[in-house]
Amino acid sequence: MSNYHIKHLEEYYQVYRKSVREPENFWEEVAEEHFMWRKKWNNVLSWDFSKPEIKWFEGAQLNVTENCIDRHLVTRGDKTAIIFEPNDPKENSEHITYKQLHERVCKFANVLKNEGIKKGDRVCIYLPMIPELAISVLACARIGAIHSVVFAGFSSTALSTRINDSDCKIVITSDGSYRGAKTIDLKTIVDEALESCDGVKSVLVVKRINSDIQMKDGRDKWLQPLLDNASADYEAEIMNAEDPLFILYTSGSTGKPKGMVHTTAGYMVYTAYTFKNVFQYKEDDVYWCTADIGWITGHSYIVYGPLANGATTVMFEGVPSYPDFGRFWEIVEKHKVNQFYTAPTAIRALAKQGLELVEKYDLSSLKVLGSVGEPINEEAWHWYNDNIGKKNSPIVDTWWQTETGGIMITPIPFVTPTKHTYATLPFIGIQPTLMDENRNELKGNQVDGGLCIKFPWPSMARTIWGNHQRYKDTYFSTYENKYFTGDGALRDEVGYYRITGRVDDVIIVSGHNLGTAPIEDAINEHPAVAESAIVGFPHEVKGNALYGYVILKDTGESRNHNNLRKEINQIITEHIGPIAKLDKIQFTKGLPKTRSGKIMRRILRKIACKDTSNLGDTSTLLNPEVVQDIIENVL
Ligand code: WTA
Repeated sequence: MSNYHIKHLEEYYQVYRKSVREPENFWEEVAEEHFMWRKKWNNVLSWDFSKPEIKWFEGAQLNVTENCIDRHLVTRGDKTAIIFEPNDPKENSEHITYKQLHERVCKFANVLKNEGIKKGDRVCIYLPMIPELAISVLACARIGAIHSVVFAGFSSTALSTRINDSDCKIVITSDGSYRGAKTIDLKTIVDEALESCDGVKSVLVVKRINSDIQMKDGRDKWLQPLLDNASADYEAEIMNAEDPLFILYTSGSTGKPKGMVHTTAGYMVYTAYTFKNVFQYKEDDVYWCTADIGWITGHSYIVYGPLANGATTVMFEGVPSYPDFGRFWEIVEKHKVNQFYTAPTAIRALAKQGLELVEKYDLSSLKVLGSVGEPINEEAWHWYNDNIGKKNSPIVDTWWQTETGGIMITPIPFVTPTKHTYATLPFIGIQPTLMDENRNELKGNQVDGGLCIKFPWPSMARTIWGNHQRYKDTYFSTYENKYFTGDGALRDEVGYYRITGRVDDVIIVSGHNLGTAPIEDAINEHPAVAESAIVGFPHEVKGNALYGYVILKDTGESRNHNNLRKEINQIITEHIGPIAKLDKIQFTKGLPKTRSGKIMRRILRKIACKDTSNLGDTSTLLNPEVVQDIIENVL
């Protein structure tokens, strides 16, 4: 027996021990009993972190969509797979059964095939949170094409970088999207992006907002007529266990975004197994994750994990504040949501509103509350626990990453006693460790250091698209024979983990990872800017906000500073997207640098946080005098 569903703490420890002592036997049993394989594996795991090379279930053949859809048709054909809740509460929600999902995915797969898309081709999906987003993802998986979903809040420049990096042949988008009271012209953004993407031969367009858009002859096609003419059958492509399933970009501290590559079998097994346990999903439950499918949370815990378990998963198109800040709670009541998974930034924004917006709604269906994306601070944790969970829905503070594919450190609800601000215990099969400054493993408890994982798990990313060396350098070179997460953590007296935050130059703003370098590169494009440096500082709702230090060229000195600030944020919006805008911009004459020319961000961070009591040794700086000047002019 594989212990697919863990129900009490003793069992957790017992299964955990097994998963560490005999990882291959353990995962083999899980894979064997709970999934549909066209052919079984020859070897459960082979790995070498020095290369790094990781292979799970080698030799196995399968199609993820047969596991997420087809195998449910007999027993759950009329069960709702996806509940689509539109942006506007006056528009009807849509319930898509497993049978209907099968038909829609097969039709979409045929459309892709007719467009010449084959196994292994890359497909860029740039869509709002409408059913076609989940369906196109699954259609790619069905034909063996590699999807690359780009969050539809990214700018045209960010989109074209991602399309070109993975050489996508086709883009799936919509005429536009609704976001609260606003509409966004997605198709125009795609048109701009494609001016610099020669490899894209066709664009499929979903009609969502009925706007009047330009359709380029020979390239752009409305999706609906193609679907209407497509067959509702599509024999799933048989994939090898280690064939790529998707690419998803994440920010690095330097350089262009990293296209993390996730493969087929291991990703499916791990996301399904974590979903079942971390949310304690039961057959008739309704599960809702508020993330966007443009992020890993949406891939793993809106689409693949829930559907592999035959669950009912909610997709919400809108925002928490429209038509008012009661919208989330209205949806919980309306669909009788049992598991609710969101981000601390949303919780903090909602906690700032009056409680009457919560109390208006019946939240008694809720059983489990989740949090993901950044550390959840104590105040937000209590607000969530008291007012939403009414103190009887455990909060699962789930720590994981785009790179890890699935949840890594988390309580199991009703099993692990929770502790606010702690992600608590490693999930089954996960072997975390903390490293000190001398690169030694910290033994025992009550220690803090760099968070690493010592042993492979099935859903880990296998490489960075087109740049395996960067994969090795970023994750496997800081510490020998370990995956380095880029996060710091502490372990308390009982072995619970608390994530303390990034230790590199990635800043998490409203749960979104932002690298400092790409933002600085964008700012430096402004003709009046000579140099810039970005740091994070604490923000009540966003967790962190961005603070920019900008040196102007002589020509910029005479310009109005507020206008310059607007222009700088405009450039950032164009290059990356509005999520990367700076909250504060300080113009300065210089930046503190080491003798080798490296900006001392540590000092800039402290100044932005107004914590200048102990700046450490500044004597090694090339230009210590600029520090005082920056402190005096801090915003
Ligand atoms: C941070 C999101 C504290 C962390 C799934 C990680 C968290 C980065 C938590 C990955 C949490 C995520 N507590 N920090 N529960 N969850 N993080 O790739 O810094 O968008 O490295 O994946 O978010 O963000 P990503």
